[in-house]
Amino acid sequence: MIQAPDLARDADPWTLAGSALAPEAGPRARIELALHTALTAPSPGNAQPWRWFVGGEVIELYADPARAGGEADPEGQAAALACGAALAGLRVTLRALGLDEQTALLPGGHPDLLARVAVGGRASPLPEEQWLYQAAPKRRTYRGVMAQGPLSRALARRLKHMVDGTGAEYHVVEDMARRQAIAAAVEAAIAGEPSARTAARAAAGEPGVSFEGPDGGEARGQAIADGSPAFVLVTTEGDEPAEWLRAGQALMRVLLRARVDHAWGSFLHLPLADAAGRKQLASLVGATGRAQALVRLGGGADTPPTPRRPLSEVLLAQRPS
Ligand SMILES: Cc1cc2nc3c(=O)[nH]c(=O)nc-3n(C[C@H](O)[C@H](O)[C@H](O)COP(=O)(O)O)c2cc1C
Repeated sequence: MIQAPDLARDADPWTLAGSALAPEAGPRARIELALHTALTAPSPGNAQPWRWFVGGEVIELYADPARAGGEADPEGQAAALACGAALAGLRVTLRALGLDEQTALLPGGHPDLLARVAVGGRASPLPEEQWLYQAAPKRRTYRGVMAQGPLSRALARRLKHMVDGTGAEYHVVEDMARRQAIAAAVEAAIAGEPSARTAARAAAGEPGVSFEGPDGGEARGQAIADGSPAFVLVTTEGDEPAEWLRAGQALMRVLLRARVDHAWGSFLHLPLADAAGRKQLASLVGATGRAQALVRLGGGADTPPTPRRPLSEVLLAQRPS
């Protein structure tokens, strides 16, 4: 159990996320713990393209244009997805710590303002909200061949339920024929990647586009399907920034819920780097909209956490002008 003074803003977010807070802690301490937890969200190349501002009991999430993905993410879709994931981490924590919240996406007033979260009164967290919160410090991107085996029926149902109310849709693909179709789309995206995008991704520090295959090299072609017991796609009807934020929230909830049940995820984002790819991937699962996230899901193993910037580096002293 941590006390409010432990919530140093320069603390490593991984050491605080998921902790229980002393019962007497006030809303400010709860908000700060929720911010620390939000910082453990995944982001392309671990760019952490977010900034935060807190005014009383209102929390604002801003994009950080200095950490946008450039050529690797020309429309800003991946950065928005990551910010949506961080927003979900924040909201899950607020609720797990007993605070109600109301969130407005893209409320306007500043071009970088992505969301405003107004913390309300006390809420009684559901057990599942507490599990999601406790899973936050254990979530990692697992870049290895995943243990085979179908998702249990119960887990498949729980994951689907995670996107309820987010405005996004969830699709799981486990049969080999459709896994091969997705793997072929990933392979085509890798093979056809413009060199400027490859360079931008490498410069951003992304370890690779797929994952480490059985021969130690990056998985390509059939190995992508073989090493991925399940693919999960998060889709939205449209393809606008608000939908990217919704999809990011849905994705984070799915990844956290998977981790509660000892399943791991990793990203195959390259085919979704442009609007045409997002449309094509959605059609592969029979969805009318756009695929915003494609992750592999299966059995993995723990790895050390990837470092995060502390809250002191991402918390704004005042609203951006
Ligand atoms: C939108 C998005 C796209 C990503 N794309 C890739 C990718 O193409 N290849 C990869 O290995 N990891 C990818 N990642 C995972 C990040 O590299 C990872 O989240 C980051 O390094 C932090 O590590 P962690 O997730 O283990 O905390 C992506 C993450 C996000 C949110």
